[in-house]
Amino acid sequence: MASTAEPVLEARGLVKHYPLTRGIVLRKQIGAVKAVDGVDFSLGRGETLGIVGESGCGKSTVAKLLCHLERPTAGEIRFRGEDITGASGRRLKEVRRNIQMVFQDPYTSLNPRMTVGDIVGEPYEIHPEAAPKGERRRRVQELLEVVGLNPEFLNRYPHQFSGGQRQRIGIARALALRPEVIVADEPVSALDVS
Ligand SMILES: Nc1ncnc2c1ncn2[C@@H]1O[C@H](COP(=O)(O)OP(=O)(O)O)[C@@H](O)[C@H]1O
Ligand SMILES: [Mg+2]
Repeated sequence: MASTAEPVLEARGLVKHYPLTRGIVLRKQIGAVKAVDGVDFSLGRGETLGIVGESGCGKSTVAKLLCHLERPTAGEIRFRGEDITGASGRRLKEVRRNIQMVFQDPYTSLNPRMTVGDIVGEPYEIHPEAAPKGERRRRVQELLEVVGLNPEFLNRYPHQFSGGQRQRIGIARALALRPEVIVADEPVSALDVS
């Protein structure tokens, strides 16, 4: 279906191959895992796009490519019409602020030594311009409320929460910088949707 909304995120011929190697001293490439092999889409402002497929078909790899956690083997990623595939430095930081990821596994993606307040507020340390220091605590409490967690839980650690609650913490963190795009990798797999 043709979209009338202005495209905010586009993929064109996105490819990711992981090299398959043999040998320890003389590493030889003997092939490639074609994790992603030609993905095209256009996501309009305000739209939701879902990618469906069996395990191992490349959904998580696409998510990582879009968030610049992996570099594509070929193809292009465009943000608001601009090619951001090779973005680096200040530009990459700006792109990362605007394209946030919610990870599939809330057990390995939250630092167990950080309090929930520090986890959800960490994006403000990296992007201090997003919220003045004096406002961050209140913002974090608001975010916890938005995702259905008690804002008084600020000083608790991830292990004190259920799997579903942890996934909500990851969602709150992804919302902290008010990104233009949220890439969610099966974010409800541990969520108590009720
Ligand atoms: N870092 C990696 N190195 C080698 N192969 C990988 C790597 N990451 C993913 N793969 C392979 O790429 C394919 C797609 O994986 P993935 O994107 O995680 O699938 P999905 O999220 O759809 O289950 C799988 O065959 C997986 O084994
Ligand atoms: Mg996956």
